[in-house]
Amino acid sequence: MFPERVLSGMRPTGALHLGHYHGVLKNWIQLQNEYPCLFFVADWHALTTHYDDPSVIEKNTHEMVIDWLAAGIDPTQATLFVQSKVVEHAELFLLLAMSTPLGWLERVPTYKEQIEKLKEKDLSTYGFLGYPLLQAADILIYRAQHVPVGEDQVPHLEMTREVARRFNYLYGREIGFEEKALEAVKKLGSKMARQYTDLRNRYQEQGEDEALEQARALLDDAKSLAMADKERLFGFLEGSRKLILVEPQALLTKESKMPGLDGQKMSKSYGNTIAMREDAAAITKKVRTMPTDPARVRKTDAGEPSKCPVWPLHQIYSSDATCLWVQDACRGAKIGCLECKQPLIDGILHEQQPILERAQQYMDDPTLVRNIIADGSDKARKMAQETMRDVREVMGLL
Ligand code: TRP
Ligand code: SF4
Repeated sequence: MFPERVLSGMRPTGALHLGHYHGVLKNWIQLQNEYPCLFFVADWHALTTHYDDPSVIEKNTHEMVIDWLAAGIDPTQATLFVQSKVVEHAELFLLLAMSTPLGWLERVPTYKEQIEKLKEKDLSTYGFLGYPLLQAADILIYRAQHVPVGEDQVPHLEMTREVARRFNYLYGREIGFEEKALEAVKKLGSKMARQYTDLRNRYQEQGEDEALEQARALLDDAKSLAMADKERLFGFLEGSRKLILVEPQALLTKESKMPGLDGQKMSKSYGNTIAMREDAAAITKKVRTMPTDPARVRKTDAGEPSKCPVWPLHQIYSSDATCLWVQDACRGAKIGCLECKQPLIDGILHEQQPILERAQQYMDDPTLVRNIIADGSDKARKMAQETMRDVREVMGLL
């Protein structure tokens, strides 16, 4: 019934590193070819933890969007926008807040974890407690079915689904719903009506998810039906409510195993990153000073790649032939570690080449980026307004 959409967001943390590139952006680039995608900068989310330091948000937003574009996110394919430029998110957040139990927010695991982790900050704020609900509004306002996120965000997605379900339950009620739905079934025409009823029974009595899918596809194809009737029939499949908000699914990005310079996962908080647009001299220096297998003190000591932080990076960046060479030469003490690191440096710089080329025009002309964000935000706002119209209507606010 609603157009298929993918949505994801990132807090503006500034320049992105190779972990973001391999773990997130490459996935987004894949998705932008397959679905209509919305990618946005969650600047309000950044304020929930950095409300005392707003000075960097604008710059970080700008740098991060350049990284997206440099990676190959295509603004003619995907819609790129900034959360605070679509104020409708805040309206939905407010309206969802009316019916969201405090307990749902308090029991999201990231809530207590983050408060523990960021001890130096006072996060006993209303805004921080509301973080997952704001995220729910981000998603629900576009009726996005798929949300590519990492494992850590799964509890937020679960809460989003609960919020949508509760909203539909509270506000999808309609006097005489059942009668109206049955009338709408008749309007499908006798053949489709029979199919619909049959699939609905199979889903409701046997819990066959496949029947639910088929029934939805059937409704999608039912051209003659008015929108209100369609909403009823979608809701009627699962219960006795109209469907206003859509329950999203997490599209789990497989755990990025991007190793950092010290063998731990690459992460800003470990200080072991290489930025996507880091200059060549800095990259070279960082790799050359990486720790290696501690057993290799001298070049004549045999080493073991599986005990060396350089090796997992070779597995990402180097050809099979180079990897074989590394294993053989390291174990046989045939090369020095700097020699071993050179093809890795070459590999990183090679990958970076097209990224830097794409970034250049945006670095030269900041208005290009601003225009992309302004256009994307306008597009996103139109979609958001459609949902808000329905939300206001059922909440008695038209
Ligand atoms: N909380 C997400 C993160 O830290 C960012 C985010 C905000 C988000 N709103 C979203 C992700 C909506 C997906 C969908 O990564
Ligand atoms: Fe690591 Fe390569 Fe040195 Fe072996 S030769 S310890 S794999 S850097």
